[in-house]
Amino acid sequence: MQDNLAQDLEKIFTTIKDSSLHIYQILRNNMGETTQSKNSTGDLQLQADVLADEILHKAFKTLECVKEICSEEQEMSIELHNNGIYKIAYDPLDGSSLMGANLSVGSIFGIYRGEFLPKNLVGAAYIVYGMVVGVGIASKLKEGVDYFVFNGEDFKLQKTLFLKKEGKLNAPGGTQKYWSKTHQDKMNNLFQKGYRLRYSGGMVPDLHHILIKGGGLFSYPSTTDAPKGKLRMLFEVFPFAFIFENAGGGATDGKQRLLELVPNHLHDTTPCFFGSNKEIEIAKR
Ligand code: AHG
Repeated sequence: MQDNLAQDLEKIFTTIKDSSLHIYQILRNNMGETTQSKNSTGDLQLQADVLADEILHKAFKTLECVKEICSEEQEMSIELHNNGIYKIAYDPLDGSSLMGANLSVGSIFGIYRGEFLPKNLVGAAYIVYGMVVGVGIASKLKEGVDYFVFNGEDFKLQKTLFLKKEGKLNAPGGTQKYWSKTHQDKMNNLFQKGYRLRYSGGMVPDLHHILIKGGGLFSYPSTTDAPKGKLRMLFEVFPFAFIFENAGGGATDGKQRLLELVPNHLHDTTPCFFGSNKEIEIAKR
């Protein structure tokens, strides 16, 4: 198949926008329902998780340019079109445990041209389901993160997001009881500087908040109960690392760029920090 990156990304991003409306409908109809099935890492699958995954699988199947998909809700990747060029890794519904509390949740997408390796990322996107449906899009062809909002008829570009040198928000994930002393000191250091705690437990709204406000730090570190962190490389961490770097910020595991890591398994996790550059420097100290 002929590789026309701009056109192909446009088709994939439009498919993500269209799917967001179907998923939003499910969230409104099925708040917090659970099924008996469990996903590949043993999490109880909420009805909405399962349905969102089905919607996206069907939607990506309509695109000849998509070779393979890998969903957080599926143990193995799934081949769609033998002559396809792109592989899409996605978390169909991230933060679904927050649905019962009527908090914002999201979907996350990484678009790889070739194997599921961060160096092959050509685009990434997120959907945030809140009082409106918002879609953030980052592409290898353009700096910044284009943020679209659905106005009842179509998706309007609201703003192209960029991160300043530093911000004021601190989103510290993970159970504090299990933080290392070093991480505890880093977090205290930020709060002593006047950073404000902004953490909902939903990766998508928490990271979108930092992007919209132009800066800050989100962290999900190595903890004694999760030494390799909790967030998954292929469909949560690498897409947002791409997005934050596209916005002029940074993304690290505390030592190196997240986009230099190499996963051994589709569901590998890693400690992660995303933010504006001043905060990323602090995270790496
Ligand atoms: P889940 O999809 O199981 O609700 O987990 C959400 C993820 C991610 O969205 C969020 O950043 C992180 O888990 C929060 O984990 P903690 O509750 O351990 O901070």
